[in-house]
Amino acid sequence: MSSNNGYDPGLAGVLAAETYLSHVDGQKGELVIAGFPLAKLAANATFEETVFLLWNGHLPNQTELTDLKNELAALRPLPAATTDLLHEAANANTTSMDALRMAAATLDLGSSQADHRSTAKAIVARIATIVASYHRLRQGAEPIDPDPALSHAANFLYMLTGTPPSDARVRGLETYLNTVVDHGLNASTFAARVIVATQSDLVSAITGAIGALKGPLHGGAPGPALDTVFEIGTADRAEAVLQAKLDAGERLMGFGHRVYKVRDPRAEVLSTAAEKMFKADGDMALYELAKTVEETAVRLLAVHKPGRNLQTNVEFYTALLLHGLGLETNIFTPTFAIGRTAGWLAHCFEQIKYGRLIRPQSRYIGAMDSEWVPVAER
Ligand code: ACO
Repeated sequence: MSSNNGYDPGLAGVLAAETYLSHVDGQKGELVIAGFPLAKLAANATFEETVFLLWNGHLPNQTELTDLKNELAALRPLPAATTDLLHEAANANTTSMDALRMAAATLDLGSSQADHRSTAKAIVARIATIVASYHRLRQGAEPIDPDPALSHAANFLYMLTGTPPSDARVRGLETYLNTVVDHGLNASTFAARVIVATQSDLVSAITGAIGALKGPLHGGAPGPALDTVFEIGTADRAEAVLQAKLDAGERLMGFGHRVYKVRDPRAEVLSTAAEKMFKADGDMALYELAKTVEETAVRLLAVHKPGRNLQTNVEFYTALLLHGLGLETNIFTPTFAIGRTAGWLAHCFEQIKYGRLIRPQSRYIGAMDSEWVPVAER
């Protein structure tokens, strides 16, 4: 929607924060996370290193890293009330994102005196346990206790299946979590900052952020992108199936972006990660098919919408990578939340430091002097 006397309903172009956490350049296709170009960080850092970097502004030394890993591992078990709630949610057939939102709100049970850093560590540690436990419950299985000997990413995969994952899968998931950990002032991050700026608490901020992420315009559904690849099935069908969708006025899922007008740098990183993981421990035929679907889609979109620069976005290879990790589509968005939680908390720390209430203005456009009519006469 266009702006109206300086007002844009989507706040497009409004500068609402200064941050040390991430830089997004949609024209250049650039994403920098706390000083590191995404490709450098995502493929090298463990998730714990990325958490430390975002929360402290520098990479951890070995002692700092070991301490953080141990602290997070010790905090993974859920309060009993959280587990009870997850059972109730599964009985009521609640969606995974709704269950995550409800369970996240319980995470400070019994720890109201904790400082911000301790609360944040508990949140990061336990969000992963909630997602894995709830997935098990929805499958009619019991949750699997976390294994403190495993890293955050390895333990999440272990809690889903009970089988320790291969190194290739752990690296694949870590690359994904690092890739989605932060992305400028996106809607859920803004929501978290607004909440914490009132001097409310971190659990409230993360619960609100999860609510924002849940919406299809944000956390979205990489699921449909994967469905398209499966629907196509073989490379020779790509052009016909995709062209038929465009002719029918459908959007090709996993392509186009509000900010990026070149290939989303996250798609670049995730496609490389997917290739590595599929080569080491997966179905290379599916990866090759996805590459053909991508090339065909970008080519057809250039003809369909000339000059619009509709390129591959983060969702396309998210779908492929998470599927390759053995994740089902209904936990794609909750898995996104596992990564983004660390970014939300880092923004909360920044906002708390600024200490300024976020309170923009609205312009009243209603009537000014309405006639009062008694209820019996309305
Ligand atoms: N397939 C077909 N046509 C498209 C696509 C697509 N994937 N994306 C945009 N277009 C068309 C639009 O219909 C529009 O045409 P029009 O001007 O004739 O109406 C034109 O290209 C420009 O599109 P906009 O909707 O203005 O682009 P916007 O920047 O608002 O939308 C969005 C971005 C919502 C991501 C869009 O590209 C889309 O719907 N993509 C498919 C869904 C998807 O992959 N979503 C995940 C995005 S990644 C993320 O948000 C984390």
